[in-house]
Amino acid sequence: MPLRHSNRRVLGVALSVCVACSALVTTATVLLRPVQQANRLLEKQRHVLAVAGLLEPGKSVEELSRRLDVRLVDLASGGFVELERPERFDERRAARNPALSIALPPERDIAGIKRRAKYARVYLVRNGAGDIETIVLPVHGSGLWSQLYGFLALEADANTVVGLSFYEYAETPGLGGELDNPEWKALWPGKQVYDEEGRPAIRLVRGPVKAWDPQARHQVDALSGATLTTRGIENLLRFWLGPDGFGPFLARIRDGEEDGPHDS
Ligand SMILES: Cc1cc2nc3c(=O)[nH]c(=O)nc-3n(C[C@H](O)[C@H](O)[C@H](O)COP(=O)(O)O)c2cc1C
Repeated sequence: MPLRHSNRRVLGVALSVCVACSALVTTATVLLRPVQQANRLLEKQRHVLAVAGLLEPGKSVEELSRRLDVRLVDLASGGFVELERPERFDERRAARNPALSIALPPERDIAGIKRRAKYARVYLVRNGAGDIETIVLPVHGSGLWSQLYGFLALEADANTVVGLSFYEYAETPGLGGELDNPEWKALWPGKQVYDEEGRPAIRLVRGPVKAWDPQARHQVDALSGATLTTRGIENLLRFWLGPDGFGPFLARIRDGEEDGPHDS
């Protein structure tokens, strides 16, 4: 009898501990969610500022982010869209929602992403007069082992590269992971992503790129020993610069809608 009594007690105590712990974890998750979201946003903004060359020692990300004009673009038309709560738009979640995304047939899906959201966030850096100085575009696509997420920054001509940087990937360190090597990233500024006809022209070639080659302005050294990651990077860039990506938006900028395109 005493044994059964003590068993019930042990069970009761264990159950109470479980309930208390799960309540604690749930409360912490709910309370910390806004903090985590804010930190994620700050981290993303830090990457945007870094690829645009705007990070300055001694200045906070919040302060520097005031130079960013964050807009949503309708990728099909290339025009800006106004959503009620634009800050709540989540590209990755939207890409899984059939109402907010399109399925890409295999022949057009060169980035290996299957679906893409109808809208995408762009970050415009403006000068004091309000003119666009730099355009930062989110890009993503399949590498060898992982989806590669990054930002491509272009000058106001919507053609010349300011920088390319990946902030999320799981390629092999020393091979595909060299996509984050500062020396490789330094090869990008000044490259031109479109040819004279406005077609995506950027290529990753077995290096080093020959300076005398007329195509050199469109070429960057491949990552050595990482042909498959390299191909993924080239393909995702060509996708996001093409007609299913930011092509229509960038064409509008190049056509002189300097303030950025507007849909009526
Ligand atoms: C353990 C392991 C990890 C690898 N990781 C990568 C990688 O992250 N990216 C990549 O392109 N190739 C990676 N490779 C190499 C590919 O399998 C392939 O050999 C390589 O892309 C060919 O590149 P190369 O023609 O420049 O030598 C890896 C190979 C091994 C054995």
